[in-house]
Amino acid sequence: MTSTATFDLTGRVAIVTGAGSGIGRATSLALAGVGAVVVCADLEPRTAAETAELVTADGGSAVAQPLDVTDRAAVRATVARVHERYGRLDIMANVAGAVTTRGPVAALDEVELDRGLALNLKSQVYGCQAAAEAMGRGGSIINMGSGTVDAAVADLAAYSIPKAGALQLTRSLARELGPAGIRVNLVSPGYILTGMTDPHFRDASGRPDPERRQQVIERQSAHIPLGRPGEAAEVASAVLFLAGDGASYVTGQVIRVNGGSVMPL
Ligand SMILES: NC(=O)c1ccc[n+]([C@@H]2O[C@H](COP(=O)([O-])OP(=O)(O)OC[C@H]3O[C@@H](n4cnc5c(N)ncnc54)[C@H](O)[C@@H]3O)[C@@H](O)[C@H]2O)c1
Repeated sequence: MTSTATFDLTGRVAIVTGAGSGIGRATSLALAGVGAVVVCADLEPRTAAETAELVTADGGSAVAQPLDVTDRAAVRATVARVHERYGRLDIMANVAGAVTTRGPVAALDEVELDRGLALNLKSQVYGCQAAAEAMGRGGSIINMGSGTVDAAVADLAAYSIPKAGALQLTRSLARELGPAGIRVNLVSPGYILTGMTDPHFRDASGRPDPERRQQVIERQSAHIPLGRPGEAAEVASAVLFLAGDGASYVTGQVIRVNGGSVMPL
């Protein structure tokens, strides 16, 4: 039964990975903002704690959880602990990810390839496996893709290959978990201003460079119909929609939050 309160997540429990920055932080704030208890997981304990504090200051409910998403045992243990503590898990947002290596496929060695796969694909497999077990019958898993899922970019294969894998992970699981009432979807951000894009706006010595920032943003925006980069909160809005009952008939799908930069058929 649909209602206008489709964004209300009161009483639901969520885990957000990569919660210490950017899209993960915005997602934590968004989910908690409509009532969810949010476990803010990140490799960086300090930034995870900062996010939990921001949520609390905003009137929401959150706890920080240090977690390396590339560590399968740690992911399983974290999810199991959350389930034990709250007696349920409703939402799993596998947001953590990063460009670990740049360079042509020809030069990609095994270590670099493994690093990209571990952080951007295998981590999401681990998160999905653990979450599905904890959710039992009913829940929403949101995986994180990228514009590189749809559009090939030179020198980014160690990132785009695993991100494309996350799409097929999402579709496979949507089929496998649909009968249990667990929905699985992918959010694919375009060019979003976060910790990931911040280094683009710095000079060679790592200092913020406003002129460079302006140039990069203008160059990127030229390919974006909405004419600007996105904000983390705009990606979090898509996660929020998928997390709740407003998306009760949505599974195995991709929501592209990219200002129109990529529009596949
Ligand atoms: N910003 C963009 O333009 C953009 C575009 C497409 C996709 N994405 C995706 O969005 C997601 C979030 O990125 P963001 O832009 O918010 O970047 P960000 O750098 O601001 O945040 C990423 C967070 O992930 C955490 N993290 C990194 N490795 C981790 C690990 N092993 N275990 C746990 N946490 C870890 C970092 O500490 C950081 O807090 C990523 O999956 C990224 O690939 C971002």
